[in-house]
Amino acid sequence: MDTAIREVVILGGGTAGWMTAAYLQKVFEGTVQVTLLEAATIPRIGVGEATVPNLQRVFFDRLGIPENEWMRECNAAFKTAVKFVNWRKKEPGAPDNHFYHAFGLIPNVDNIPLSHYWVLRNEGRATPDEQVDYACYREPPMMDAKLAPRFRDGRPAVNYAWHFDAQLVADYLRRLSTGWGVKHVVDELASVEKTPDGHIKALHTKGGRVLGGDLFVDCSGFRGLLINQAMEEPFLDMSDHLLCNSAVATAIEHDDAKHGIEPYTSAIASKHGWMWKIPMLGRFGTGYVYSSEFCSQDEAIREFSAKWGLDPEKTAFNRIRFRVGRNRRAWVKNCVSIGLASCFVEPLESTGIYFITASIYQLAKHFPDKGFNPVLMDRFNREVEMMFDDTRDFLQAHFLTSSRDDTPFWLANKNDLKLSDALKDKLETWKTGLTVNMPVSGEEAYYGNFETEFRNFWTNSSYYCVLSGMGWMPEQPLTTLKYRPSSVAHAEEAFQRVKLQQQALLQGLPTNHEFLQRLHRKN
Ligand code: FDA
Repeated sequence: MDTAIREVVILGGGTAGWMTAAYLQKVFEGTVQVTLLEAATIPRIGVGEATVPNLQRVFFDRLGIPENEWMRECNAAFKTAVKFVNWRKKEPGAPDNHFYHAFGLIPNVDNIPLSHYWVLRNEGRATPDEQVDYACYREPPMMDAKLAPRFRDGRPAVNYAWHFDAQLVADYLRRLSTGWGVKHVVDELASVEKTPDGHIKALHTKGGRVLGGDLFVDCSGFRGLLINQAMEEPFLDMSDHLLCNSAVATAIEHDDAKHGIEPYTSAIASKHGWMWKIPMLGRFGTGYVYSSEFCSQDEAIREFSAKWGLDPEKTAFNRIRFRVGRNRRAWVKNCVSIGLASCFVEPLESTGIYFITASIYQLAKHFPDKGFNPVLMDRFNREVEMMFDDTRDFLQAHFLTSSRDDTPFWLANKNDLKLSDALKDKLETWKTGLTVNMPVSGEEAYYGNFETEFRNFWTNSSYYCVLSGMGWMPEQPLTTLKYRPSSVAHAEEAFQRVKLQQQALLQGLPTNHEFLQRLHRKN
């Protein structure tokens, strides 16, 4: 008897639905038949424009799609970091402050990250002589100069991810997937038929179709039509950890030739939240993420419009209300949730598409047969839980450690947040000068194997960029450094090497505008 899963039905044709369809159809070599149901009348969320570097290695490489090919189809640009603007307290009239959270790892010296020697260097100073990002990473000066992360001949110079139009990505993956054999059904879900033991048997559509299957993937967005509604799995609300729950968004035209194209996402702290700026060719996507507890939609639109010089009466805004949290279990019986139907944290570190990528990877790794071994499901659920909770904690650390205290929103982030024990532990570790998370040595070990990256996604380097960037320093340098004078001397050489690397990149890289124009030029 054939016990293999043969029919997979996906509900939803947003980024999550089409990424899952393309991956399963291609990676399982046509051994499963994928059918995707989406309603033409129910729009995709339509944002989701910034990513993280593993999108190419973990997703597009598995599909056999070269970077330049999908970049051209999706109007993609480069992202080398998130630039945090004004997350530190600013006196009226003072210039904007910023720090970068770059990708990649701070180098190790004698198996201790350079960031820890940087703390020692700055011991006793009220403010560091140079920020950790500029002292320990190659990238900040080239980002200030708006240079591309790739050399003219196309080779990568530094770690980077992408900005793109999420609608174009979903459409591109739809064309690819249907070409590979995915069945596309455009219709609206009417009801869900279950077996007596509570598995999903079939989806019934308003147009009278019946879509039967062995495994059902819920990619229906915030509604969670299968996982939350049909399977009645509770969604664990985490709005006591992260306060923002709303956004207004739009796209703004940009004169690239005049201003260049910034090779990074900006996250600009604002009165009741923060604004993203995601540059692409000829325009940038932007949105104001705020908490409706502290500001009305009208106030948000006024502040947002004032920032970019928009006329609120004449601008089309995408108005979004989102839920923060995750399903208690992402996978229940024969129903797996992926994308917004599974979990969501606000977009501060652009993790939405990463969560989708990682969930698809984990689904393929734990893919069952018709026996639905509960251990497979349990291990998958644990991975999703760890991925989500760890990210929630890292995002929370941004708000908690920001020195801003100028509005009730920022004060509430200091005083009213619920912290997990894991985050309390990390912050205590940080204060004593120890490494937060293991000091992974070498970017190849980190990026070369997704299992390593997944387990340690927010590295010690990420914590150093963000917490010290906020002005939140450890209370003391790593004590063991008192006993290692030769390591401290080696670290001074490493700081000098970073400076030389920065100079080499400044001299060797084309502008982001030049590179992208060439990449997107139609032949
Ligand atoms: P989405 O809502 O897009 O799709 C749902 C699909 O289900 C649609 O095709 C719809 O037609 C279908 N559907 C619903 N009901 C149906 C029914 N009854 N019958 C049939 N079909 C039905 N991520 C990121 O990586 N970087 C970023 O910068 C951001 N930024 C960002 C900002 C904000 C404000 C939000 C809210 C989210 C982000 N994200 C993000 C997250 C990102 O938007 C999200 O992860 C992806 O777009 C995936 O969305 P889904 O496909 O899960 O749902």
